[in-house]
Amino acid sequence: MKKITIAIDGFSSCGKSTMAKDLAREIGYIYIDSGAMYRAVTLFAMEHGMFHGKEIDTGRLKEAMPGIRISFRLNPETGRPDTYLDGRNVEREIRSLEVSAHVSPIAALDFVRHALVAQQQAMGKEKGIVMDGRDIGTTVFPDAELKVFVTASPEIRAQRRYDELKAKGQEAGFDEILENVKQRDYIDQHRETSPLRKADDALLLDNSHLTIAQQKEWLKEQYLRVCEEGHTAGQPNTPQAHDSKD
Ligand code: DC
Repeated sequence: MKKITIAIDGFSSCGKSTMAKDLAREIGYIYIDSGAMYRAVTLFAMEHGMFHGKEIDTGRLKEAMPGIRISFRLNPETGRPDTYLDGRNVEREIRSLEVSAHVSPIAALDFVRHALVAQQQAMGKEKGIVMDGRDIGTTVFPDAELKVFVTASPEIRAQRRYDELKAKGQEAGFDEILENVKQRDYIDQHRETSPLRKADDALLLDNSHLTIAQQKEWLKEQYLRVCEEGHTAGQPNTPQAHDSKD
């Protein structure tokens, strides 16, 4: 079957990654969590003393940016990719509440977005990729064959995040998490470069009241439908309808 590009965008903690990862594994596609890349840069900036309260030492970060190496390697135990920063597995650290609290201003920096978008586009050159984030359907892969925009209420997303951290044994109060979710929504939607928004041709999925199994099933159906349509579009009367966009 011809490989396509799948772009999944949406608000933080709305279960995008779970369904994106699982679909990728099932259909043998590469999975890239673009948020993990912004988180890794944030961790780098924190570890190198580039935060002074809310202020970021953008001069030093800009200088360091070309040398920051972010990669993904499959974790055989979980069957999912872990994030590496300069060769070190940082999967756990980048999910901490501290990184979550610092990541939005980092993701709003033009030079950070520019560098990471270029890396993401290079990763998707061969198609056969599922990438999730905030600007995948609008900026990274505007020609993706399947685009999904996922949303759920802030309270439901905060509860999911609370349960997730608790299961990992990390302490955090629900109110603090809810505040963080709302703050990130605001910054993500109002930043100048690539603000979070639904691409016009993206399918909207509100998963507030769906189980993980239901959303996974829905996504798989969309994938199969797009592949089927692509197949039909390749008939003699509309040759290469999909390739013409590449
Ligand atoms: O999906 P996440 O919560 O792990 O994302 C972390 C942060 O990175 C979040 O504040 C939004 C930002 N982000 C972004 O600006 N663009 C992306 N493509 C992915 C994430």
